[in-house]
Amino acid sequence: MKQLSKLVVASHLAALVTGQTPLTVTVGTKFQKIDGFGFSQAFGRAREFQQAPSSIQKQALDYLFNISTGAGFSIIRNRIGSGGSGDSILPTDPGSPSSDPAYEWDDDDRGQVWFTEQAVSYGVKTIYADAWSAPGFMKTSGDEATPGYLCGTPGHTCSSGDWRQAYADFLVKYVQLYADAGYEITHLGFLNEPDYEVSYSQMQISDDAAEAVDFIPILNETIQAAGLNTKVTCCDAVGWGTTINQYVPALVEGGSTKYLDVITSHSYSADATAPITGTSLPKWNTEAGPSGEFTATWYASGAANEGFTWADKLAVAMVEAELSAYLFWEGFEVQETQSAMHLVDTNPDGEPKTVVTSGIFWAFAMWSRHIRPGAYRIAASGSVSDVITGAFVNADGSVVVIFTNRGSSAQSVRLSFGSEFTPGAADAWVTSNSATFAPTDASLSGGEVTVDVPSKGVVTVKLTE
Ligand SMILES: *[C@@H]1O[C@H](CO)[C@@H](O)[C@H](O)[C@H]1NC(C)=O
Ligand SMILES: *[C@@H]1O[C@H](CO)[C@@H](O)[C@H](O)[C@H]1NC(C)=O
Repeated sequence: MKQLSKLVVASHLAALVTGQTPLTVTVGTKFQKIDGFGFSQAFGRAREFQQAPSSIQKQALDYLFNISTGAGFSIIRNRIGSGGSGDSILPTDPGSPSSDPAYEWDDDDRGQVWFTEQAVSYGVKTIYADAWSAPGFMKTSGDEATPGYLCGTPGHTCSSGDWRQAYADFLVKYVQLYADAGYEITHLGFLNEPDYEVSYSQMQISDDAAEAVDFIPILNETIQAAGLNTKVTCCDAVGWGTTINQYVPALVEGGSTKYLDVITSHSYSADATAPITGTSLPKWNTEAGPSGEFTATWYASGAANEGFTWADKLAVAMVEAELSAYLFWEGFEVQETQSAMHLVDTNPDGEPKTVVTSGIFWAFAMWSRHIRPGAYRIAASGSVSDVITGAFVNADGSVVVIFTNRGSSAQSVRLSFGSEFTPGAADAWVTSNSATFAPTDASLSGGEVTVDVPSKGVVTVKLTE
């Protein structure tokens, strides 16, 4: 009996070894540059964060931004308000586009100055400020919260005049006010979901993006005249369908891409699933989130609010669609567990309150903690059944490989490397139904690394020379 079980064990081991799927990572073959991962605290959520009890606030900040214990998010997206006093920096209609605007700055911006300060204190360098609308008096509808176009753009004349330059001035003023407060807004957007009509701040553009094509050079000129380097984004559509089929072709055709730095889109109505052609500009998914409740569930049925669903979305977006950044909607909210649209909340039952994370939070953390801004995606050849493999080289030379296993069986993967890179140390972490960012074995031998990737699991391997 004893002899037999040894044989069984030996043949089982042999099966495991031959079952290892080889992959080769080539550090010298670079694809898109990675700008980072992020989220927003727009619409009052920055204030809510600022007013949270200090121990809660610190825990939540560490979860979101700490690069050794949290997700290490590296991009924040702030909203440039377009409403009344305390929301917009230009709450009052100056009367005409040529009248002096009476800007108001409260050094607070609905808590977003505090939020920016916190992010920066953790090392965040990419600050994306995005306007959902121009102030209402600059729009055809006369109201920031009703559908309308920017007055003066093609086909949109207003009795109050042409407000295009005034809108560019307003956006640049916002960047300058942050600069005066000590924070560099690196990216500036002038639209949010312009293909969608809502009941709050909004501004539309046509399917052929004529208004954006017209406005982008004015914004570029205004940024340059102010001596700023702020990068311009467009157009934060509600989904990648509009972005890919309408806006990108229109921006390319209209010559706008030479003034633009990033193509931005949300993914509510469609994800990016393949490389976006027509322009080599970086592409960012700037907003995303599911319906359903806030839940710590990693994988149960593949529902929209489960962690593994987002692990899969991230892998498709960063590897298959070659995006350079991925931002979720909000980061921290207090007792809003009816919604899965944020990543960190507080325990509804605990007293004193503690911070809780969603499964989706950990999906992001598996990517954003170790793939740092300035990394490049690199070649990973060979394929593992049901596994998406993303390989990246950081600016410091470390290599990060992320495996996302959609299948119903675990996979053993053997990684080898081209001549440019010889791993000297390997660390690996796993998130699955039975582990949350837990260290896992990555055995290094003869310049090769072997790891197991559980079913419906993500494994992040970090290698240094
Ligand atoms: C991140 O967490 C580590 C470990 O708790 C801590 O030492 C470090 O100070 C934190 N970083 C920041 C920027 O707070
Ligand atoms: C404005 O456009 C010019 C010409 O395409 C470009 O070189 C420059 O980088 C742009 N400026 C900004 C601030 O994006």
